Amino acid sequence: MIKNSTEKLDLEFALRRARLIESMGEGVAIIPTSPEFIRNRDSHYPFRFDSYFYYLSAFKEPESVLFIIAGAEPKTVLFCRDKDMEREIWDGFRYGPAAAVTEYGIDEAYSINQLDEIAPKLIANQAKLFYSLGADAAWDVRVTAWLNQLRTQARTGVSAPGEIVDVRKYLDEMRLYKSAYEIETMRQSANIAAAAHQRAMQFTKPSMMEYEVEAEFLHEFYHCRAQAPAYTSIVAGGANACTLHYNANNAQLRDGDLLLIDAGCELDGYASDITRTFPINGKFSAAQKDLYELVLASQSAAIAKVSPNNHWNAPHEAALDVLIRGFIDFGLCKGSPEEVLETGSYRQFYMHRTGHWLGLDVHDAGEYKDKQGNWRMLEKGMALTVEPGCYVRPADNVPKYFWNIGIRIEDDAVVTENGCEIITKAAPKTVAEIEALMHDD
Ligand code: GLY
Ligand code: MN
Ligand code: MN
Repeated sequence: MIKNSTEKLDLEFALRRARLIESMGEGVAIIPTSPEFIRNRDSHYPFRFDSYFYYLSAFKEPESVLFIIAGAEPKTVLFCRDKDMEREIWDGFRYGPAAAVTEYGIDEAYSINQLDEIAPKLIANQAKLFYSLGADAAWDVRVTAWLNQLRTQARTGVSAPGEIVDVRKYLDEMRLYKSAYEIETMRQSANIAAAAHQRAMQFTKPSMMEYEVEAEFLHEFYHCRAQAPAYTSIVAGGANACTLHYNANNAQLRDGDLLLIDAGCELDGYASDITRTFPINGKFSAAQKDLYELVLASQSAAIAKVSPNNHWNAPHEAALDVLIRGFIDFGLCKGSPEEVLETGSYRQFYMHRTGHWLGLDVHDAGEYKDKQGNWRMLEKGMALTVEPGCYVRPADNVPKYFWNIGIRIEDDAVVTENGCEIITKAAPKTVAEIEALMHDD
C-alpha cells in the first residue's frame, strides 16, 4: 500500500477538520476539489486540487468532494473515484474509498458515483449548509438539486438546511495562520525557488533568449521535487520588465539591460514567490544601480515593519515613503514627499502594492481588513510577500537616463514573535552579492 503521509501529518489535517467542525457548531459543509480542465480535445491541463479541499483532506485526486458534519455526531465523509484496474493501467494509481479511509483518516468514504444518492441524506435535517456558493457553477447546480430534492420531501418530515453560510469565511481565517508544518513546507518551497534564482543568475549571458532562462527555473523546480511553478514565470529583459504581468518570455536578452524574473514553485501545495532583478552582463550600470539601491532600501524599510503590532499596510507605507523620496531626488517626481503621496504622482513609477498573503495560493486566502474596515494587525504565523518595485517607461517628464528600467525585489516573510523570518533570503539580492556571483567563473 502506498502511504500518503506520516502519522504526524495525518494529525495536522485531522486537526484542521476538527477546528472547522468547532467553528461550524452544527450543520454540514460541502467542499469539492477542482474540476479537470481540457486543454484541447482529450488532453487535459495538469490537474491542481482545490486549495480548500486539499487544506482539509490532503487528498490530491480529481473527482473528489469532502462532506464535514458538525454537531452531536461529527464525521467526515469523502467521495472519490473507485479503484479501477482498467483506468489505472491507463492513468495511474487511485486510492479508492476503502484505502482513502485508512490512509487519510477520513471517517467514511464512498464512490463518487454514489454522490447524488448519498449527498441528500447527509444534508437532510441539518440546520446549516456551509458551502462556497458561486465558486463553481456546476457544483452550485448539483447542490441546488439536492436541496430541491429535500424540499419536496417536506411532508415526510425531511427538511433542507434553512441557512447557507460561505464556508470560506472560516477556512480563509484558518489558512491565514500557518502551522509549524506549513511554515516548514513553505521554507522548503522558498529554498528551491531561491536556488533557481541563483542558478539563473549564474546561467544568464547576453544574447540568450528569455525562455532559455525560464527553462533553468523549470529544471531546478522539478529537479528539487517541486510539483509545478506556483504561477506563470515572468522572465522580462530590459523594457519588458515595465510590463507588470509580462510572460511572453520570448525576447533576446541585450547586453547592458537588466533582467527581471518573478518565479516561484509549488511544493506539496505551498507556493513560493520571488522576484530578483539583475544585470544581464553581470554589472549594474550607474542608472540601474541608482534605482536598484532605492528599491532595495524601500524593501528593507518594508521588511522592518513586518512584525506583530504593525498593521497590514505598514510595510507598504514604509516602502512608499522611501521610494517617493528617491523619486524626488532622482527628478522623477516633483514636489514635497507629502504632495507626491497626496497627488499619487509616484504611481507613474510604482503602481502596485507591496505584497499579499502567501500560502497554498500564491495570492493566498485571508482578509486584509478587519470588520471595522481597518487594516488588520500582523500576527505570528502569517505569511506574506514584500515586493516593492520601480518601472520607468519613456516619457517627456522622465530623465532619459532612467528610461526602460524595470526593477522589483520580492521576498517571502513569515511573521514571528518579534518581527519576521525571510524564508527566501538564500536568493542573492545586494548589488555586491549579485555581481560577485555573476562574475564567479
Ligand atoms: N508573482 C505574482 C506576484 O508577485 O504577486
Ligand atoms: Mn508576489
Ligand atoms: Mn511574484
